[in-house]
Amino acid sequence: MNASRRPETKLRYPKFKKSFSEFIGIGSNGHLWVDGCDTVDLANQFGTPLYIWSEGQLRHNYRRFRDAWQRHYDDVHVLFANKSNNGLAIRHIMNQEGAGGDAFGYNELYFALLAGADPKKTVLNGSNKGEEELELAIANGVCINIDAMDEIDLIDKIAKRLRVEEVDLGIRVKLALDPLKKRFGVSMHGPGSLQEQAASHKWGMTLNETCELVKRIAKMKNMKLRELHYHLSRMDNKASDFAIMAREMVLWTAKVRDKTGFTPEAIDIGGGWSFGRKGGTGPAGVDDESAATYEDYAREVCKAVKDEARNQKLKLPTLKMEPGRSISGSIGVAVGRVGAIKRHPTKTWVNLDMSSNHLPWTAFASWYFPCVVAGNADGKGTDLVDVVGPLCNSDELGPHRKLPKVKRGDLIAFLDVGGYQESSASRYNAQCLPAAVLVSGDRADIVSERETTLDVMRRFRVPPRLLAESQDMRVKGYF
Ligand SMILES: Cc1ncc(COP(=O)(O)O)c(C=O)c1O
Repeated sequence: MNASRRPETKLRYPKFKKSFSEFIGIGSNGHLWVDGCDTVDLANQFGTPLYIWSEGQLRHNYRRFRDAWQRHYDDVHVLFANKSNNGLAIRHIMNQEGAGGDAFGYNELYFALLAGADPKKTVLNGSNKGEEELELAIANGVCINIDAMDEIDLIDKIAKRLRVEEVDLGIRVKLALDPLKKRFGVSMHGPGSLQEQAASHKWGMTLNETCELVKRIAKMKNMKLRELHYHLSRMDNKASDFAIMAREMVLWTAKVRDKTGFTPEAIDIGGGWSFGRKGGTGPAGVDDESAATYEDYAREVCKAVKDEARNQKLKLPTLKMEPGRSISGSIGVAVGRVGAIKRHPTKTWVNLDMSSNHLPWTAFASWYFPCVVAGNADGKGTDLVDVVGPLCNSDELGPHRKLPKVKRGDLIAFLDVGGYQESSASRYNAQCLPAAVLVSGDRADIVSERETTLDVMRRFRVPPRLLAESQDMRVKGYF
């Protein structure tokens, strides 16, 4: 059956007294609202800590991102980086929008397929892929971006066992990035210039390795090399640096053609795209109004790809990109409840029930997510406080924040936490993971269950001999 695409659902944009983004803002009661839901009501209904995702904002961001690129390039595929928010509901929304996806590891790929992602719009990335995930990808026709010389042997073995006649492949490359020798970003991959960071991380195949793989794959009947792939993660806020990277991808493609006679039909230039807001967000608040917009990225990158393809006499490749944070970041807030407040002459600490387990990127930089008092979101910031969590480390969620005075029981909400916070949350100090709700208009549905003590305990075991020893010692009165 030839399925026709459902017409795009029309987005109903809420009205706010002050907007943080299209679907998140301050309502007429002074509270923080996500679409048609008051975050204070949501926290009371679903408990804290709580992640709140806006379906409207997710759809809006995806469409704006896609449209920006389609304005500048005919053949563009947007693959949502599932890792940034890998809930099943999020993937369902991305499927409905027609987005592809990038997946890492068995579970992420399994969840995406389970949520109905189109395998032909999905890629599997990873530096050390296991047999199980390769089998899942091969059996479902997902394109695998190779990132080790012997990965091709494993893929071939599995494809033969499964009797799959055509496996889609890409090769993740290791660009030299000489033109970025003197450019410095947010150091996602350690210290040094963007070029040094690119050189020091584990990813990608050198030009010689790429050419060797291309030649090997050409001789394999059941393997179809489709694309070259690159991703340098978060670089900086300059669209021009991404354009340099994209140009290098085209140059690399031309070199591969010259050395092997093979030209891939697509280049996938990964993620790392950022977004800004007034007042700043992201590491040390660097993502402000000066950050590149979707439109800036699309304009500069597409121009670089087209110019260089013309210089190298290459047919324009299909252009893929894998945005994560730039699409999911601004879709969500995380709300925690104020507990103990400690006032010292030099400092005030406001303790929440939410921790850096739940907002792990707060540990990456001393200032990451903007925050407001959910029930007084437009209140004047009169109190300089450190917002902290309950963990046994310093657990700084929001150091040096000027907030309206809060009391025990109030709620503090962090903005822009839709990307990577839930998906990389952890359980240090045996904490339970929070619930997440998806808001659409005035309804909110749980999309991640809150963990219970039983969930946290479930993995732990005491070997029978240890149990017996302890019982014996207790009986003997040793404790
Ligand atoms: C291969 C790959 N693609 C895309 C992304 C998404 O990056 P971002 O969320 O910065 O856009 C990542 C992030 O780690 C990645 O590893």
